[in-house]
Amino acid sequence: MSSACSGPFRGTRWYGSARARADPAAAERPSISRDEAVRRLEGEVNEVDKGVDAEMTDKPAEPARGPAPDAAAQSAKGGVHVPVAPAAGWVNPLRDPRDRRLPRIAGPSGLVIFGVTGDLSRKKLMPAVYDLANRGLLPPGFSLVGFARRDWEDQDFAQVVYEAVKEHARTPFREEVWHQLSEGMRFVPGDFDDDTAFKQLRAAVEELDSSRGTGGNFAFYLSVPPRFFPKVVQQLKKHGLANAPRGSWRRAVIEKPFGHDLASARRLNRIVHEVFDPEQVFRIDHYLGKETVQNILALRFANTMFEPIWNRSFVDHVQITMAEDIGIGGRAGYYDGIGAARDVVQNHLLQLLALTAMEEPIAFDAEALLTEKLKVLKSVRLPEDLGSHTVRAQYAEGWQGGERVVGYVQEEGIAPGSRTDTYAAVKLGIGNRRWAGVPFYLRAGKRLGRRVTEIAVVFKRAPHSPFDSTATEELGENAVVIRVQPDEGMTVRFGSKVPGTSMEIRDVSMDFAYGESFTESSPEAYERLILDVLLGDANLFPRHQEVEESWRILDPIEAYWDEHGRPAQYPAGTWGPREADEMLARDGRSWRRP
Ligand SMILES: NC(=O)c1ccc[n+]([C@@H]2O[C@H](COP(=O)([O-])OP(=O)(O)OC[C@H]3O[C@@H](n4cnc5c(N)ncnc54)[C@H](OP(=O)(O)O)[C@@H]3O)[C@@H](O)[C@H]2O)c1
Repeated sequence: MSSACSGPFRGTRWYGSARARADPAAAERPSISRDEAVRRLEGEVNEVDKGVDAEMTDKPAEPARGPAPDAAAQSAKGGVHVPVAPAAGWVNPLRDPRDRRLPRIAGPSGLVIFGVTGDLSRKKLMPAVYDLANRGLLPPGFSLVGFARRDWEDQDFAQVVYEAVKEHARTPFREEVWHQLSEGMRFVPGDFDDDTAFKQLRAAVEELDSSRGTGGNFAFYLSVPPRFFPKVVQQLKKHGLANAPRGSWRRAVIEKPFGHDLASARRLNRIVHEVFDPEQVFRIDHYLGKETVQNILALRFANTMFEPIWNRSFVDHVQITMAEDIGIGGRAGYYDGIGAARDVVQNHLLQLLALTAMEEPIAFDAEALLTEKLKVLKSVRLPEDLGSHTVRAQYAEGWQGGERVVGYVQEEGIAPGSRTDTYAAVKLGIGNRRWAGVPFYLRAGKRLGRRVTEIAVVFKRAPHSPFDSTATEELGENAVVIRVQPDEGMTVRFGSKVPGTSMEIRDVSMDFAYGESFTESSPEAYERLILDVLLGDANLFPRHQEVEESWRILDPIEAYWDEHGRPAQYPAGTWGPREADEMLARDGRSWRRP
């Protein structure tokens, strides 16, 4: 890697460095100065951009906006002064928002990733950006800015993205897509404390506005250790990056975990909202980007056959399971002290519960979804006896995938006395007319039998059976199982007569598999979510109220666990501790084997 030059002019190397490597001919093209680019954009509409934007901009999904009401005030407050992109108010007359055959394509924009050298960025974010570009869903001038503490230049960064894309992208590699994308890549080296680095970042953003036509529209993705979330948003404010120039937008994307309890989540929300308005903040719960999770709403509210039985009259209980077969891997520093309940129950599992239990929203938009999800979360009731109806546990050594694996406390970086849960099971109630008396059992764990996430809605037995008991010995309860991952789809389980017998009834399954019913494979959750951020579509992002409600549910359970005993144990590769089986047995039920 080459060393970055020091001093305030480091940023000047952005002009053409990555571009030159990706496309040697580009180096020959006369490059324009930043001032010249700004002047041109401030003047008459650039005809080339106009044509391109006319083709690429999906205005129905990103409704045409006039200048933001407070844009003038923001400029006065010291917001970045960037010319309005030519396409800002333009609406493509050939696009109709109701036409779902047309792909949703982001308008002129760029993405800044903080923590771009990290695990998430390499495995998910950078490949997702490429996949979006490859599917033609990004604008031609789309730009990607990386920020981290590395002595890199643009071309070094482009090389890292290239390797991440080659290794992890979902769609095939295409040279021409890569060229177009790599021309808009910039790297800003620096620490989050470093004001000079943020000044460079601002200069990079402004340069991209003029050279790539990003139009002042930038999303800032905080893929950084959570303790840095406040610092980064404060730096964005301090350096005028959080203020959208007139007619454009700025958005913040914040990874999980969002706080570690209610108090810390509130604190963080306060800090974030001092800088960004609530509708500018996109909190990631990547589960909501999964097709199967969105399908919960389609299943329930687009059909007639499920909704009439989706209530306490017919449903006996609901089981929501998120099982991983891996251990903590190299993430000891992150995981220890957090545990399964905070890591996945507070966010993914409670979101799945909310989508399964909520009432029909009045529209499929962010506000209406928030209203209904929030009502469910506020109605969640904890069991009175937390000792009998919650279980936390740690994996002990055992066998997984034919290999002997160590227990949690023997993992590198974990203190022998750690009480962190790698498995959590809780029983929740929902205090409303639809769900009164129906338990929702949630469980999540590492080093379980296999990797699977599913929601099982288990129905009551028929109130009367005309068959004698021997005929129905093998008949279980009817169930609708939504398979979130990995085998995406849905199963309906019901009883059927065994052929050749006078009358014997056994469970059979009817299956819907995404892979069989649709020719197109599902996009990665991060593809969907990054595109939604660029389009300003907040449907699949939990709002601060949901995050806080979820902590309100979990906090008393964590407090109880803190004060009572130690985690139970389960051998790696099994389906969890005996105590969790006993928890359901006390209610006369048992866990499904997914
Ligand atoms: N990894 C996953 O699968 C996953 C899944 C869900 C959510 N998340 C969340 O995503 C976020 C990122 O996770 P990760 O696993 O990618 O973390 P990671 O591998 O530890 O990466 C952290 C990143 O932050 C940068 N960084 C750390 N301190 C910095 C500082 N003082 N100044 C500038 N940059 C700094 C690092 O850059 P340098 O060290 O190169 O400077 C690195 O790029 C976290 O909030 C995590 O909870 C991760």
